[in-house]
Amino acid sequence: MIRNATKTTVLRALRTRAVSRGYASLAEKTFPNEPTAPAVATAIPGPTGKEKIAALNKVFDSAATTFMVDYEKSNGNYIVDADGNTLLDCYAQIASIPLGYNNPTLIEAAKDSKTISALVNRPASGNFPSTNYAEQISGLLKYAPKGMTEVWPGLSGSDANELAFKAAFIYQAAKKRGNADFTPEELESCMRNEAPGSKPFAIMSFETAFHGRLMASLSCTRSKPIHKLDIPAFHWPKAPFPQLKYPLDQNVEYNTAEEKRCLEEVEKLIKGWESPVAAVIVEPIQSEGGDNHASPNFFKGLRDVTKKHGVLLIVDEVQTGVGATGKMWAHEHWGLDGDGLPDLVTFSKKAQSAGYFFRDPAIRPTLAYRQFNTWCGDPAHIMITNAIFREVAENNLPAKAQEVGDYLYKGLTAIQSETGKISRVRGKGQGTFIAFDLASGAQRDQFVVNMRSLGVLVGGTGAQGIRLRPGLLFEEKHAKIFLDTVKKALEQSKA
Ligand SMILES: Cc1ncc(COP(=O)(O)O)c(C=O)c1O
Repeated sequence: MIRNATKTTVLRALRTRAVSRGYASLAEKTFPNEPTAPAVATAIPGPTGKEKIAALNKVFDSAATTFMVDYEKSNGNYIVDADGNTLLDCYAQIASIPLGYNNPTLIEAAKDSKTISALVNRPASGNFPSTNYAEQISGLLKYAPKGMTEVWPGLSGSDANELAFKAAFIYQAAKKRGNADFTPEELESCMRNEAPGSKPFAIMSFETAFHGRLMASLSCTRSKPIHKLDIPAFHWPKAPFPQLKYPLDQNVEYNTAEEKRCLEEVEKLIKGWESPVAAVIVEPIQSEGGDNHASPNFFKGLRDVTKKHGVLLIVDEVQTGVGATGKMWAHEHWGLDGDGLPDLVTFSKKAQSAGYFFRDPAIRPTLAYRQFNTWCGDPAHIMITNAIFREVAENNLPAKAQEVGDYLYKGLTAIQSETGKISRVRGKGQGTFIAFDLASGAQRDQFVVNMRSLGVLVGGTGAQGIRLRPGLLFEEKHAKIFLDTVKKALEQSKA
């Protein structure tokens, strides 16, 4: 204990000297007091955590609570629980903390008088936008995906997707209707939730996709039954998502054929579905449903087939957006351009506010109140988003995520060949968006617990996967701790 404490003090002193001499990394400059290693003294949750969970459970369903967090003490890449345990956080609030806990730049942005004003005088921005709203929205658009010229803000990932669906329906109906007015039949039948006023449009999604938990987004979510059970659903088509074999370089022929098969199915479904498909929604990496990847060729093919049939392409960047895949927006890896760019791109999580970007002015409805709600976004959080986007772009954090991702990928593939206990390491060239499988769901669950008790927080994905979702100030020294802990956690698990 004493030796460890001495070591930590020496390391801290060395780091302080490095910071003052200007050699420090961005994480070190940003978080001069970030812990140097995890420190776990109790079970997680420990006695205080258990007490607090029990108290919470009386008033709030805490069935999914992992542990209680002390957010004021959490620092940089380290999360601190109610018992003072300090964990290296490789999951970052389900991929949604962009720049570490208590990032000083974001704290400054939160203290800005304009942010405070937006918090205490929350505007109904559709009717009464703040005098600085155009400036805030332009700030978002500055870092928007290539080609995107407008944004419509929402409140969460699910909300962003549902708003994008509405935009797609309104656009497709307007395209069919031309300049004609709504008919009396449309006006009257929509009030009975019937055609022709209520249109029988569909949104196509993919097997094992995740697009949220609200009513329409849930109809596009296909990751696990537990999310969908008992909830009414739209009868919308589900296309197969490529099931790639790993390692990719040894399965080129199989994977090419698999992607072709899936694209053929997409086209068949668009042509044959009982109702017109208004849009296809796709994640660049299926993040909840197993961290499933497809090649840029697959996505280019998807763009071609949607374009051919006048179907809009919605790219769901709720989890992949804002730098962690090595690009600001993951779909930049596909090399799309011009008319081939996605029609709509949704975002949330690391952006801390939500919404959809689009590039064709025709996607903006021509009448007021068609796309509308009380708040039409959250200006206080949009100001935080502005600060996040600036920090990510100015510090070139996507490129840094790529560097640390390469280190992680190399380390994990080495562990895969040395131990044989993990498989399908995936995410090469996709920044820190890296995942691997354990031999079964039970072994995966045990691995998550082992890692946590060794002081590293990771997330599960799909049936037996582990996913890495650290923030953008997660550096090689953090990655080294993660890799060393993976080895220890695997040693603890039965062969
Ligand atoms: C790709 C994707 N889309 C949508 C959502 C839903 O976002 P939210 O939980 O904020 O509604 C998620 C959440 O995990 C997601 O990963």
